Amino acid sequence: MRSHSLPKAELHIHIEGSLEPEMMVALAQRNGITLPYASVEAVRAAYQFKDLQSFLDLYYAGAQVLQTEQDFYDLTWAYLQKCADQQVRHTEIFFDPQTHCDRGIPFEVVHSGITQALKDARVQLGVSSGLILCFLRHLSAEAAMATLEQALPYRDSILAVGLDSSELGHPPSKFQAVFDRARAEGLLTVAHAGEEGPPEYIWQAIRLLKASRIDHGVRCVEDPALVEYLVEHQIPLTVCPLSNIKLCVFDEMAQHNLKKLMDLGLCVTVNSDDPAYFGGYLAENFDAVESALGLTPAQLVQLAKNSFKASFLPPAEQQSYLQELAIYS
Ligand code: ADE
Ligand code: ZN
Repeated sequence: MRSHSLPKAELHIHIEGSLEPEMMVALAQRNGITLPYASVEAVRAAYQFKDLQSFLDLYYAGAQVLQTEQDFYDLTWAYLQKCADQQVRHTEIFFDPQTHCDRGIPFEVVHSGITQALKDARVQLGVSSGLILCFLRHLSAEAAMATLEQALPYRDSILAVGLDSSELGHPPSKFQAVFDRARAEGLLTVAHAGEEGPPEYIWQAIRLLKASRIDHGVRCVEDPALVEYLVEHQIPLTVCPLSNIKLCVFDEMAQHNLKKLMDLGLCVTVNSDDPAYFGGYLAENFDAVESALGLTPAQLVQLAKNSFKASFLPPAEQQSYLQELAIYS
């Protein structure tokens, strides 16, 4: 089935992870930055990861080429054009302000570049969106709180807060106070948990951070009581198949547990995570699980439906996408 033609939503994409090597090299040139790579091919060849941390080291280094409002606009616009090409009608994107502000880029520069592209895409591409501010969990809880405070003047343009970066050793509990504060300000919450970390981190994301969705969450299967809870409450998992293979969470796609998670009754969604680094955008992730796991057309449609059900779109808009998808089932 050409899942490219199905209307879909994407709920787990780090905008900095959509920085293609071509754009990395072009922005380095534009901003007078010397990269430790001789060519676009050399950048791409460096994308061999053994785990999450080995990827993050490169990802944070790559993000240094992003300096101006125009850079953030161009990055976001290129991703949104991909969305339009692949029938991604709605996207809820993560951004990592600390990656930029800690090297002297004002929050406003990052925010304006991204939000201007999101606005233009609504009008020119018919792609709707939401913005999720992620805290870097390898940094302190105090630094996260300071980042939230910096973001509050822009609160109306931000849908939710999230938690990303190095998972092991940085449990959700570390960020309980900042998530409490974010919720008090009316923001929704999500969190990466159970990518490399144990099921206990998923419990903490739910109980302490009140996460509406779990980003990744594939390790939930190690705790049957947790699976039961996730099924009963239909707490969505934003699963990222190509990412999980590139970061060695599973050895190969045929071993990925996405189909098993669906069979258990979980609300599973498919997402690209960091498409420029992991070899594909949303449609390529659908294709990869379809062929490796033998998903049926009905299961692919279910995944597309789940993407809208798990989104933060108002119920009426979700319903209208579900109706549009009904003709495929
Ligand atoms: N930041 C970007 N991609 C990430 C991932 N897959 N896990 C944690 N933090 C990230
Ligand atoms: Zn992620």
